[in-house]
Amino acid sequence: MPRHKIKINGVKFYNNIVVSPMCQYSSQNGCPTEWHYHHLRNLIETGAGSLIIESTAVSKIGRITNNDMCLYNIRHLNAHSKLIKYLKKIRNIPIIIQLSHSGRKGSAEIPFYKKNIPLKGKHAWKTFGPSNISRDANWPKPLEMKISDIKKVIKQFEYSSCLAFKAGYDGVEIHMAHGYLLHQFCSPISNKRSDVYGLNDSKYEVHKKIIRSIKNILPKKKLIGARVTGDDHLPKGIKTKDCINLLDILKKEGLNYACISSGGIIPKTNMEFCPGYRLKMSNYIKKNSKVLIRTSGLINNHKILKKADKLLDLIAIGRKLVNDKYFLIKDKKYKNLVVTPKQYKYCID
Ligand SMILES: Cc1cc2nc3c(=O)[nH]c(=O)nc-3n(C[C@H](O)[C@H](O)[C@H](O)COP(=O)(O)O)c2cc1C
Repeated sequence: MPRHKIKINGVKFYNNIVVSPMCQYSSQNGCPTEWHYHHLRNLIETGAGSLIIESTAVSKIGRITNNDMCLYNIRHLNAHSKLIKYLKKIRNIPIIIQLSHSGRKGSAEIPFYKKNIPLKGKHAWKTFGPSNISRDANWPKPLEMKISDIKKVIKQFEYSSCLAFKAGYDGVEIHMAHGYLLHQFCSPISNKRSDVYGLNDSKYEVHKKIIRSIKNILPKKKLIGARVTGDDHLPKGIKTKDCINLLDILKKEGLNYACISSGGIIPKTNMEFCPGYRLKMSNYIKKNSKVLIRTSGLINNHKILKKADKLLDLIAIGRKLVNDKYFLIKDKKYKNLVVTPKQYKYCID
């Protein structure tokens, strides 16, 4: 039987299915547009127990593209407050926002127009990262971050989190995976620093300070999560034991849950895909850490969903819920945990 009514730090989850965050590259001046209202309404109506809002930049240069969602000023705060009110009226489930900084991966063309292409010309910006190493042959080298740049980014995560709680989000999920800046700091592929922010003694100083600063301002009944990398799928990259070490450190700072991801530090890795491709690794991490564990990755049929339910605390689903809005309603195990719209009583099997 799927777990339901999970409570994490006072936040009640309707069931253990989470809508995975999905970047839409459809914001205007960093604010959600009509597209977001349509897209997120559909996802909130799937019956999932909680929803994660797409990767949202903590600063202008922390965006991937010029159309990214942002949360770093009062205009953004007002736009997010309005969105949250709208969504919570439809279904009052926990809504968490994923906060990110792109680092060397920023200043890019919108991927559904041009994939893995850096911007050129007046709309481009200079990026930075832990070291002066580009993400791919056709990408510019980022500037190596000074200590003052790192301190500024830590403050930006804190400020965006503060705005997120004010807007009405139930939690923040800090993006430390998928080649974003905080993944760049975790991975030996992109971080060659020899100072305290390097990987020599694997203390994960930036990550630790970010979680600590958010914990210091965390209101009651709100959550701090992180999306982390369980494996870079590269010979010299992050291994599962590194991820367990990172989670041990972050747990002490107040992390409530982690979503295990993998790959993405460079555009092409040795990652292999099949239904539930991250379940085994995530279950191993769950057994060896004290943080609640979620994962995603082609959990797209009822058999694999049942398996995931046994192995993990939370299950994230992205593409399947876009493709088949009533996937959960059609699952016998979830049927009673999900509200079928009465108007569709004779429409959905
Ligand atoms: C269109 C699209 C946008 C995505 N954007 C994000 C994002 O903003 N943040 C994130 O952590 N993952 C992002 N992902 C990854 C998904 O959250 C998810 O982990 C991945 O698609 C695998 O799960 P699935 O097979 O259920 O879709 C994105 C995936 C897709 C397809």
